[in-house]
This record gives sequence, C-alpha cells and structure tokens, in this order.
Amino acid sequence: MEETMIVQPVRLHELIQDKLIQAGLKEEHADTVAEHLVFADACGIHSHGAVRVDYYAERIAKGGVTTDPQITFERTGASTGIVHGDNGVGQYVALRALEYAIDQAKESGAAIVGVKRISHCGALSYYVKRAAEENLIAISMCQSDPMVVPFGGSENYFGTNPIAFAAPREYGAPVVFDMATTVQAWGKILDARSKNQDIPDTWAVDVNGQPTTNPHEVNGLLPMAGPKGFGLMMMVDVLSGILLGLPFGKNVSSMYNDLTEKRNLGQLFILIDPRRFTDLPSFKHSIETMIGELHDIAPAAGFKQVYYPGETNQVKYDQYMAEGIPVAKRVLDYLESTTIHFDQYGETGSFATK
Ligand code: NAI
Repeated sequence: MEETMIVQPVRLHELIQDKLIQAGLKEEHADTVAEHLVFADACGIHSHGAVRVDYYAERIAKGGVTTDPQITFERTGASTGIVHGDNGVGQYVALRALEYAIDQAKESGAAIVGVKRISHCGALSYYVKRAAEENLIAISMCQSDPMVVPFGGSENYFGTNPIAFAAPREYGAPVVFDMATTVQAWGKILDARSKNQDIPDTWAVDVNGQPTTNPHEVNGLLPMAGPKGFGLMMMVDVLSGILLGLPFGKNVSSMYNDLTEKRNLGQLFILIDPRRFTDLPSFKHSIETMIGELHDIAPAAGFKQVYYPGETNQVKYDQYMAEGIPVAKRVLDYLESTTIHFDQYGETGSFATK
C-alpha cells in the first residue's frame, strides 16, 4: 500500500496553486484548478486529484495549454450555446462554460452548452454538483484519449469518455453520479503495475486484443458492460466531439503524446430547470424519498448497506474536508519541492507509464 499523508484542504490548495503558477498558469486559473483537484481528492477520486499536478505542470510549461486564453461565448439559440475555450486549462474554461450554462438554464428552462477546444477538464462531478447546488439537474460528458478497444475489436478507438449526473435534493448535498465508460480507469492499471499485481481479465486487452491479467501487457481498456458501454462512449463522442466539429474517435489527441500541442477536446453540459416540469420542493422531496427507500433496502450478503449512486464519494468528501485529505507521500514531496515538473510524460505514446 502506498504511503499517504493527511493534508488539510487549504494547504493542499496552496501547494497545487503555487506549483501551477510556477509552471506558467495565471493565478486565477491556477486557483480554479487547485480547487477542482482538492475537490477530487476529497471525494476519494485520487486518480483525478493532486496526482495530476506534475502532468499539468509539464504540459503548461511546454506550451500545450494556452495560459492566456481568449474564451468566447456564442449563444446559438434560446437554450443552446458554444463556449470557445482557446485550449485554456480545462478546469478554468469548463467552469466559465458551466456558469454561462447555469445562467442560460435559469433564464430559458434548459441549457445545452458545448465547450470547444479545452485541455483535460478533470472529474466531471465537480461541475454537475455545482449546477445542482443551483437547483438544476445537470449532465456532463467529455472526450478523452483513445485508449479503449471497441466491443469485439483489437485496436483502440474511443476514450474512457465519462458521464456525470447530478440532481438537487431536499436535505444535504446533491446526488452526484460520475463514471468513466470503461470497466476500470487507466489509473487502476498503473496501480497494479506498480505493485506487480495481476488484474482481472475483464479490465483490459493486450496488443492482440486478447484479455490479459498482466498489467504490463495492457494495450487497451475494455468498455464497461461490453456493447452497452461501447455504445455509451460513442454517444459521448458524438455529443461532445462530432456535434462541436472536433476530432473524434481515434483522432482525439492523446494526453501523453506531445505535450507541446494543444488538445482541442470537447465537453458538453445539459442543464434542466426542474421548475419547468414540476414544483421544485416536490422534486427535491421525491429525490430524498428515493434515497431513504434505497437506504432501507436490506443489504446483500457481504455488504454493510445500500449507498445511493455516488454516495460513497460524498461520504469521503464530508470526512476528508473536516479531517484532512490523504495524499500519496510521493505527490506531497513533489508539491513541497522546488521541482516544477519531472519531464516524464511527453512522447510516452497513448499510455503514461507512471
Ligand atoms: P468509479 O468507478 O470510482 O465510480 C463510478 C461511480 O460509482 C461514482 O459515482 C461512485 O460514487 C459510484 N459508486 C462506486 N461504488 C459505489 C457503491 N458501493 N455504491 C454506490 N455508488 C458507488 O469512477 P471512475 O469510472 O473510475 O471515474 C473516476 C473519475 O474519472 C470520474 O470523476 C470521471 O469524471 C473521471 N474521468 C475523467 C476523464 C476526463 O477525461 N476528464 C476521463 C475518464 C474519467
């Protein structure tokens, strides 16, 4: 088990922000990315938390992110719009786009906003949760690197293309569900590699497209639920890529190939004001009732209780924000060091080795 240290959220935020500013990001942008990464780590989504700072710093320092992006907002209809991100740092552009979409949804009842040309935007839960805190239902999805074999195929085509959903409830934080459309994230393969542990044969395939249990042989991830996950990742690529006129499928840029190039990724927000369909208190009450009914279901053998989808992340968030966040010691050592980045990612192909 990797050694971890407990860090207070404010301290972690400062360390991340400082590192990204040293890499070349403007203070406001670094502040937004830091808030996002602290959120992800606090939710227990460590694959998308502080561990990413080294990679982001390398891409920023090498020119693969526009540090002074000209973000423009194009309203294309009463409930539609495109935010042109100019390949600014993903979290900053996506948050500006979300704010734009929230205003539009409140005004017109719904908003479908595409975010065009951004870099990696991180954990989608962050965005949908913020919209649900404004009493909106939110869905988001985005493109990611082509590292997944199509169902029945032996070459990578789609990305891990995640989908997130959030809805406001009567009490407590919104319900937030957020998942990649693969069986497992790439981070889990890296983890198994570092420990020299076998992986289940349902996670990934080798160069011949054959299931493998050896994490060192992995050359492609498998879609979740076979053809169903495959279909969902296609839907994500159509809605956040093709719809916005961006590269799609195997032509989506790779995170680790050339860090001097901009990524040109796409993301989509779909926001719905529940007040246009029902009254808000009834909606929120019904969500609360649904949660209560799920909690009342007797657990199956081997389970302590039924959690509503996404609840395990919320439980961690509440605990870690109050008590401190576990961060891998090697990540903390880097954040506290004078090293801006380790120059370890460029040209490693589709898959990072670290
Ligand atoms: P995961 O497999 O850890 O969890 C998926 C969902 O299942 C979460 O909402 C989680 O709360 C829920 N869940 C897990 N165990 C549960 C339980 N026992 N009961 C009820 N619900 C449970 O997530 P995954 O697929 O590894 O994705 C991690 C993150 O990676 C997400 O935040 C996603 O947005 C992000 N991501 C971002 C990408 C990008 O390019 N920006 C690409 C791929 C993923």
